[in-house]
Amino acid sequence: MARPRVLSGIQPTADSFHLGNYLGAVRQWVTMQETHDAFYCVVDLHAITVPTEPDALRRRSRVAAAQLFAAGLDPERSTVFVQSHVREHTELAWVLICLTGMGEAGRMTQFKDKSAKFGESAASVGLFTYPILQAADILLYQADRVPVGADQKQHLELTRDLGQRFNHRFGDTFRLPEPYILKEVEKITDLQDPTAKMSKSSSSPAGILDVLEQPGPLRKKVMRAVTDTGSEVLFDEENKPGISNLLRIQSALTGTPIPELVARYEGQGYGTFKKDVAEAVAETFTPIRERTEKLLADEKELDRMLAVGAGRASAVAKETMAQVRDKVGFLPTL
Ligand code: TRP
Repeated sequence: MARPRVLSGIQPTADSFHLGNYLGAVRQWVTMQETHDAFYCVVDLHAITVPTEPDALRRRSRVAAAQLFAAGLDPERSTVFVQSHVREHTELAWVLICLTGMGEAGRMTQFKDKSAKFGESAASVGLFTYPILQAADILLYQADRVPVGADQKQHLELTRDLGQRFNHRFGDTFRLPEPYILKEVEKITDLQDPTAKMSKSSSSPAGILDVLEQPGPLRKKVMRAVTDTGSEVLFDEENKPGISNLLRIQSALTGTPIPELVARYEGQGYGTFKKDVAEAVAETFTPIRERTEKLLADEKELDRMLAVGAGRASAVAKETMAQVRDKVGFLPTL
C-alpha cells in the first residue's frame, strides 16, 4: 500500500518562524514524513496577497525553507518546495476561482479579519481569493491529509467543496482531503497576552518566541512572560491562562504530560518553573538556529535543494493539471 499523501504550506512572511509555527506546523510535518508521502510548500504566492517588499520576500522564502530543513525535514524523503516554482498552482487556482461563488468566498472569516485590518477597500483581490489558491495547492497533489491549525478548518472545507464540485461537474479528478488537526498545539498563546494566539502579525516582540532567536533573549522573554495572580503552577485556562500556556509549551517540548508537570512543581512557585521552560525553549531552538545559519550560508546549495523539490512537485502537479485542462475543455497544446 502506498503511504497516504500529506500536503501543507507555510507563509514566508517573517524572518523567523515562532514557537507557534514550530509546534503547530513544522514539528508535526517532520513527524509525518515518517509515515506519509509528504509535500511541504513555502507559499510565496500567498505572501504577496498583502504588500510585500521583493528583497524581503526572497530572504524570507530562503529563511523559511532553511528552517524546514534545519528542523528535520529530510529532502530525500519529503518534497520541500517553493510554491511559485510550480506554475500549476496559479493555473489551477484560476480554474477553481471560476467555480467559486462570490458569496461563498465572501464568507471566509480569515479574509474578513485580514481585510478589516487594511480597510475593506484597500485589501487586494488576491487576498480575497487566497483560500482558493490554497485549495489549488492541496488538490493539485491529490493529498489525503492536510496538517494545519484549527484556524484553517474553513479553508479546508472550501477545498473539499471545490474539489467535489469539480468532480461532479467534470468527472472524477480530485481526491478530497481530510484536515489533520492536532489538539495540544492549537493554543500556543502570546507570552504578554496569554488569551491571544502567538502570532507574527498581532503579537508584540516580547510575546513571541522566535526559532532563530539567541538563547539569551529567549530566556528573558520566558522569564518575563505574563503570569497570573497566585503562585501555584496549575493548569487552569480560565483563571491562569499565562501559566497554562507555559505548561502547554513545556509539555509539548519535553513530552511530559501536563499533570506530571503540575505535580513536579507543586510548592515551588513560578520562578523555578519558568526557568525550566526557558531552558527547554533554548535547547530546542539552538540546534535548529545553528543548522539554519549553515544552510543560509550556502545559498547556491539551498537553491539547488529547492530545485530538486520543485522538480518532484512539478511532476505530480503537471499530471493533475493535464487532466484538469482536458476536462474543462481547453484545447491540447501540440
Ligand atoms: N493558509 C495557510 C496558513 O496560513 C497556509 C497555506 C497555504 C496552506 N497553502 C496551504 C496550508 C495548503 C495547508 C495547505 O497557515
